[in-house]
Amino acid sequence: MTDRLSPDLDEQAREILRGNDRGGYTVPTDGLYPYQWNWDSAFAAWGFSTFDIDRAWTELETLFSGQWEDGMVPHIVFHKDDPGYFPGPEVWGSGRTPPTSGISQPPVAAILARLIWARDPEAGRDRIAALYPKLLAWHRWWKRDRCGSGVAAVTHPWESGRDNCPDWDIGMAKVDGSNVGEYQRRDTGHVDASMRPRKEDYDRYLAILFFGRDCGWDQREIIRNGPFLMEDPGITFILLRAHEDLAAIGRELGHDVSELEGWAAELRAGVPQLWNPQVQGYDARDLRGDGFAGRVGSAAFLAYLADAATPALDKRMDEIWNRVSYGFPSADPAAEGFDPRRYWRGPSWPVVNSLIALGLQERGHAEAAERLRRETAEVIKKHGFFEYFDPIDGTPCGGDAFTWTAAIWLTWAGAGATDTEGET
Ligand code: DGY
Repeated sequence: MTDRLSPDLDEQAREILRGNDRGGYTVPTDGLYPYQWNWDSAFAAWGFSTFDIDRAWTELETLFSGQWEDGMVPHIVFHKDDPGYFPGPEVWGSGRTPPTSGISQPPVAAILARLIWARDPEAGRDRIAALYPKLLAWHRWWKRDRCGSGVAAVTHPWESGRDNCPDWDIGMAKVDGSNVGEYQRRDTGHVDASMRPRKEDYDRYLAILFFGRDCGWDQREIIRNGPFLMEDPGITFILLRAHEDLAAIGRELGHDVSELEGWAAELRAGVPQLWNPQVQGYDARDLRGDGFAGRVGSAAFLAYLADAATPALDKRMDEIWNRVSYGFPSADPAAEGFDPRRYWRGPSWPVVNSLIALGLQERGHAEAAERLRRETAEVIKKHGFFEYFDPIDGTPCGGDAFTWTAAIWLTWAGAGATDTEGET
């Protein structure tokens, strides 16, 4: 990577964004992820906003070109066919143009759109005004189709964005993956298999996908009878923050935002149900019957982003974080199932670190926010813009030249970053 890129890290990050641009949308990385992914794209837009504000808005506009009539914004938009990825558009069978997947992904778009707008309020006004009703429709979809129990639930581990984290183990154990037939994974052809989910996970991911496809992505049926349904602290905190940011955007545009304020208040009232006293942290809950997951992972600490942290959570943060050296681990190293290099089962993800740090900074934990920035910057400087890192020894993992790692470098981790400064 360093051979073909400029030695200056800011410029390298910009080159990654430009290089992963496929014309109006950005792929997360060449090869491994050849389409437009939902939350990756929102981060790409944030990154673009540091040097090309027009391109930043275009990224979000292209993402919303995949929005469904019910408001759902899918986790993948398959703009151009690419045999290098599985499961591709024919497996999802959305029957749409452009083809899409049938599940969503963490709703960070409103949070980042607000930051992008703040960079250039004049240039952004018409763009955000046009996006606002689409964002609102998506938030309404989350409220209606995922928040029935009081907090946000996911119908597929991929919907959480944290695909194989230990939070989902109890829900996944009940999914029957024995009938999915033969298939060929593509991810392990691009990156080291020991850094990716296992075959038994993929069998179950596919079984859940097939259930959704076979019922025509009927949300009521998926919620009532689908093989997987778990409450997710990660989505809950992101959505809560996103409702509040979208309300702030709406107010600025002169809209009545009482509906959004109501959704945010209801979600906030539900947050205590995610507190598991046994593990002293916010925890995922299995709505198919088994209660708490018994895990405290990085998602719990997104509570700072939603102003939902407690002194007990501060304590838990210190305990978990002090077990590693390079950013926040996606799972607790002291808990069963921790694996420092296997995707979401332990690695430190720069993009999640940036969200946690944004929350820490705003809540007056400036020192912790700066530590998170420093540790994240250190591994990027040492190894490059990888997808994720071993939190104990900093080994780079997953895809290289990664869009969202480049984006958070430009907006937060790199020396020139400004978005999260001075917001206490
Ligand atoms: C993948 O293919 O690994 C994605 O994370 C699923 O969207």
